[in-house]
Amino acid sequence: IPVDPFDLVIFGGTGDLARRKILPGLYNRYLAGQMPDEARIIGAARAELDEDGYRQMVAQSIEEFVPAQKRDAAVIDSFLQRVHYLRIDARGTDGWEDLARMIRKDVVQAFYFSVAPSLFGDLAERLHAHGISGPESRIVVEKPFGHDLKSARALNATLAAHFDESQIYRIDHYLGKETVQNLMAVRFANILFEPLWNARHVDHVQITVAETVGVGGRGQYYDQSGAMRDMVQNHLMQLLCLIAMEPPYRFDPDAVRDEKLKVIRALQPVRPDDIVRGQYRAGKGPDGTPQPSYLDDVGNPDSRTESFIAMRVEIANWRWKGTPFYLRTGKKLRARASEIAVVFKEVPHSIFGDDEGWRENVLSIRLQPNEGMTLSVMIKEPGPGGMRLTEVPLDMTFAEALGADGQDIPDAYERLIMDVIRGNQTLFMRGDEVEAAWAWTDPIIAGWEARGDRPRPYDPGSSGPEDALMLLHRDGRRWREIR
Ligand code: BG6
Repeated sequence: IPVDPFDLVIFGGTGDLARRKILPGLYNRYLAGQMPDEARIIGAARAELDEDGYRQMVAQSIEEFVPAQKRDAAVIDSFLQRVHYLRIDARGTDGWEDLARMIRKDVVQAFYFSVAPSLFGDLAERLHAHGISGPESRIVVEKPFGHDLKSARALNATLAAHFDESQIYRIDHYLGKETVQNLMAVRFANILFEPLWNARHVDHVQITVAETVGVGGRGQYYDQSGAMRDMVQNHLMQLLCLIAMEPPYRFDPDAVRDEKLKVIRALQPVRPDDIVRGQYRAGKGPDGTPQPSYLDDVGNPDSRTESFIAMRVEIANWRWKGTPFYLRTGKKLRARASEIAVVFKEVPHSIFGDDEGWRENVLSIRLQPNEGMTLSVMIKEPGPGGMRLTEVPLDMTFAEALGADGQDIPDAYERLIMDVIRGNQTLFMRGDEVEAAWAWTDPIIAGWEARGDRPRPYDPGSSGPEDALMLLHRDGRRWREIR
C-alpha cells in the first residue's frame, strides 16, 4: 500500500548514513510500489553539488548498497527523478529561503536530521524561523541521542522548544528489524507463550548482539562511547523491553512505549561483579592476515573504552523478580550473530529418571542472520532403543515461512522511514524512554570510571573475554554459542 505523497528533506544528505541506508532504503520502497510518484526526496548538505551531481551520488549508492537483483535501470531512473538537492548551511542563512519555497504545504513533510547532534538545535530553529515546518511536520533524529542523562535532557529540551513530542521520531534501528517486531506478534498474538512468560517458568534470558567488524573508521566516535553507550543503552535495552514488558492494552504508540518505560524504570542497579568489559587485542584474521588491536584502531594507546560488554541484569517487578537477564555485545567476535534466547525452567519432576539427554526448552529468536525463531522441544529418540530423550528444534526461518528469499525482508531503515511518513511512532523512542535508559546507564559507567577498571583483553574471532563465561558459570548456567 503506497504511503501518502511526501517531501522528505535529508539534512546530511551526502553523509554516510544517507548513502548506506536512507537512500538505498527509499529506492527499495519505490521499487516495491510503496513510495508514490508524487513523493520527493530533497538531499540537503553543505557540499557544492548541483542536482545532477547529487543524483549521480544517489545512483552510486544504489549501485553499491542495493543487491544486483533489485537494481532495475528504468526504476532507478524514475526514482532519481524524485530526488533533488539543496545546498544549505545549517548554521548560516544559505539555502533556507530556497528550502522554504521548495517545500509543499499540502503533503507530508519530514525532516531527517542525519547530522551531528550539535546541529539539531540550529536545524530546528531555522525550520521554524523560515516558516518551513508546521504543526504536522515530522523530524527524524538518529542516535547517539545524548552521551549521558544530562546531554539527552538538553537535546530533548532543544527539540521540544520547536516541536511537539508527537512530531519527533527518535530512531533506534533495532526496532525496525523484522524479528524484533515479530517478537510482539509472537508474545501477544499467541496464547501459547504468555502464560509461561514470567519468573515462575523462565529460568533466564540471554540477549546477544555479536559483531565481527571492529570499530573501523569510527574510532573517534566509538572511543568516546564504548559498547555500553553505543549498543546497550539503546539497542539491547529496546530488545530487553520488548521481551520483558507487560502486554500493552493496544498496539498503539504510547501504549507500547508506556510499557517499555516501566521496564526501564524497574531495572536494578548493576553490581560491579555483574559486569565484564573487554577490549579486543591484535590478532590474525581467518586467512592469517594480521589485525590491529582496538587501541590501534582508535589510535589511543591508553584507552579504557570497552569494545565488549557482558552483564547480568535484574528487573524488579512481579513478573520478573529473580530471573536474570544476561546481555552481551561486542565487536570482532567469532560470528555476526544476534539472538534473544528465552531459557525455560526444568520440568518439575522427570518421569523418565535422570536421562542424560534432557535439556531445557529454549525459545531462540534470531535477529540476524537467518531471521527466525526456533523452539527446542524434547521428544523420544526415534527407534527401538527404549525411552531415550532427544532435543529437536521447531524451526521457523521467516524467509522460508513467508515464501520469500531473504532479500524481500525490508531493511530496518526502510520500514522506519515509511512509518514516519505514515505518522506511526510505535517503533520510535519517546523522550522519557531515552532519559530513563540514560538514568540507568550513567551510574554504571560512573562506577567503573571511579574504580579505574580496565577492560579485559580478548582475541579477535573469540566469544569475548574468559571472565564473561564466568558470569554465567557461577550461576550454574552457560552462554549459548555464538555462531
Ligand atoms: C549501530 C552502532 O547503532 O549499530 C554500531 O553504532 C553497530 O556500532 C550497529 O555496528 C549494528 O547494527 P546492525 O544492524 O548491523 O546490527
